[in-house]
Amino acid sequence: MIVLGIETSCDETGLALYDSRPWEQGQPAHLGILGQALHSQIEMHQDYGGVVPELASRDHIRRVIPLLNKTLKESHCSLEAIDAIAYTQGPGLAGALLVGSAFANALASSLKKPIIGVHHLEGHLLSPLLAKEGPPHPEFPFVALLVSGGHTQLMLVKGIGQYELLGETVDDAAGEAFDKTAKLLGLDYPGGAALSKLAEGGQRGRFELPRPMLHSGDLDFSFSGLKTAVLNQVKKAEANNTLNENFRQDIAFAFVESLVEVITHKAMSALDKTGCRDLVLAGGVGANRQLRAALTGMVNKKGWAVHYPPLELCTDNGVMIAFAGALRLLQKEFSPPDLQGSFDIKPRWELSS
Ligand code: KG4
Ligand code: ZN
Repeated sequence: MIVLGIETSCDETGLALYDSRPWEQGQPAHLGILGQALHSQIEMHQDYGGVVPELASRDHIRRVIPLLNKTLKESHCSLEAIDAIAYTQGPGLAGALLVGSAFANALASSLKKPIIGVHHLEGHLLSPLLAKEGPPHPEFPFVALLVSGGHTQLMLVKGIGQYELLGETVDDAAGEAFDKTAKLLGLDYPGGAALSKLAEGGQRGRFELPRPMLHSGDLDFSFSGLKTAVLNQVKKAEANNTLNENFRQDIAFAFVESLVEVITHKAMSALDKTGCRDLVLAGGVGANRQLRAALTGMVNKKGWAVHYPPLELCTDNGVMIAFAGALRLLQKEFSPPDLQGSFDIKPRWELSS
């Protein structure tokens, strides 16, 4: 089965073709990736310091057909080779989701192929199965740590489509905390990666920031206080005229150190509580080097395994939607295309069943 995946939930337009045959034959899942194309709108939104929903939808409309053509060319496939179309049905920006949904339903109608509405987070949490290197694939059940711009969740994954929420953020998502803190330090949106880089030049010990909910006993997170603690230090430095490069590096270091410690601690507790021995890290913040190093160190020390998506599949992309769609299709979960159904998007949608 060859599945076309379409991702348009936020500010990336991603398309990909995935062939399920290698997976069905027990071969590594990444061998099924036939081709992909991605356009990031980051530059367009940068002037506004965040994603402008209306601009996002309009840009998805402009990009989706050229990206489909690019994907087909890279895959050496024709439209007729597609067996099913998977698209991100939610959660995300309503207008942006509508573009993907309308396009997917229209194309599926004209090709007379089935359609699969995929949960964006399911795409993220299954993407570590596409890794080319690292430990062998995690066995079900495993724990997934989803850390993106919109979500921070620990999930027990019992099987495809069987997800139990173990804990989540009560306020800002980890990526949101990164982006807001980066903005306080004068970095462009989305500043997660730049903040992480800035932190690499910082000194340990100059600032001690709070570890929110570290000992709360549950698996929930809170990051808004951490960002406020950084804001207070920035205000102090402004007043004392010490807001220089060293300050920025040191406070960035303290921020990353605190956030990584809390996330690592909660992820370890989730493994302990569930008895799982495999941890999967997914979502944009999963690209963070400090978090990867800390998690790998802690998990490996116990003799357990941590699984990452390939770096280029950490942020939003069409491959993860095509892959999740293919696995759903193999479970016979699909529907006929429906042009009325184009409007059946789920901007808010819980993954856990
Ligand atoms: O998963 P994603 O592409 O989009 C959402 O679904 O939210 O995640 C984007 C988030 C942004 O907040 C971005 O700043 C953050 O991931 N991010 C990082 C890094 N790379 C991306 N945060 C920290 N360190 C990174 N290296
Ligand atoms: Zn995402």
